[in-house]
Amino acid sequence: MAVQGLIGIGCDHTAIEAKREIIAYLGELGYAVRDFGADSPERTHYPVYGQKVARAVAGGECQKGIVICGTGVGIGMAANKTHGIRCVTCSEPYSAMMSRAHNDANMLAFGARVVGGEMAKLIVKSFLETEYEGGRHQQRVDMLADIERGADVSEY
Ligand code: RB5
Repeated sequence: MAVQGLIGIGCDHTAIEAKREIIAYLGELGYAVRDFGADSPERTHYPVYGQKVARAVAGGECQKGIVICGTGVGIGMAANKTHGIRCVTCSEPYSAMMSRAHNDANMLAFGARVVGGEMAKLIVKSFLETEYEGGRHQQRVDMLADIERGADVSEY
């Protein structure tokens, strides 16, 4: 199967097993994966891994990123602190799909304590297989970048 792009993945200590399952699934889908840790269930900090993956995506090393913590909330927040990152935290596939189609999301977060293995796979597949639609959505995506630069977008 052809390699479809490099996906960066990271998690905190709550999601080691979920990450292992998703790495295997990404391989089945034909994606190459770079694992940014964590590597053990010893207590760690989700911002470390959210930032590691976010930097790899923002810098162009990885095409997309997937990050997992207990809820998906903290690690998604951490990822979104890096300029250029649009990370969506999802617990169902519709939002994952629409985050790509309308928001050009480049990272996905989910919670290992929130979604089970098969739902997580469906979320990941929906995220990775949906193309950004561009067009009328581009102005709004550009506005997100403008907010990062400190612009007041209320007058647009
Ligand atoms: C760790 O206990 C937990 O707070 C973390 O995995 C995540 O859910 C934070 O948002």
